[in-house]
Amino acid sequence: MAQIKKLVGIKACVFDAYGTLFDVHSPVGRVAGKLGDKAQAVSDMWRLKHLSYSWLRALMGEYVPFWQVTGESLDYALAVNGIDNPELRDELLNLYLTLDAYGDAVVALKGLKKMGKATAILSNGSPDMLEAAVNHSGLDKHLDYVLSVAEVGIYKPDARVYQLVVDRMDVQPHEVCFVSANTWDAQAAANFGFQAARIDRFGLIDENIPGKPSLMLDSLAELLDVV
Ligand code: LAC
Repeated sequence: MAQIKKLVGIKACVFDAYGTLFDVHSPVGRVAGKLGDKAQAVSDMWRLKHLSYSWLRALMGEYVPFWQVTGESLDYALAVNGIDNPELRDELLNLYLTLDAYGDAVVALKGLKKMGKATAILSNGSPDMLEAAVNHSGLDKHLDYVLSVAEVGIYKPDARVYQLVVDRMDVQPHEVCFVSANTWDAQAAANFGFQAARIDRFGLIDENIPGKPSLMLDSLAELLDVV
């Protein structure tokens, strides 16, 4: 159950993209028939490797745009599940540009704009990927900024990524409500100094890493009552 607690002094709400505003399982969902009983395993492995490759590359000092990591992690997920189908691979990859937005995303963004809050995305995604997804979903109309890690050439949860919000949006960390469905992202954002809200899309518990979100939400729409 979501906690009823109000955050104080919030000027901007900044959202993670993948998993928070956009459903990363929608590509596999759209071609599930072609993957049969491997569909769930492919989607789960794709997401897992997408994130872990970004962390490994960050640690290795081997940053490449997230679009490349999207393809490399998909290739792993297909290979480990014994699927060799270049056409399906390209179809899945391209579907990442037109991900479904979660229904509560537009409600929250629209409402926050009405309340006079600044709104933004801060994502690992490359600028072209993010532009495609926000335009396709129509969320672009409700976003003041779409910030990509490409500007700093490293992935979340490096503090330089969260610092982008402070530098680009002219806000102090404590004036930012950072919203993510990714446990580690919400916690790293809290550790950075944002007031963080984790949206519980996946029934996960907090990680044993530094940083504690101020809020747990069941839906992004609940943000309208707490900021
Ligand atoms: C993002 C990933 C972490 O959008 O979901 O940054």
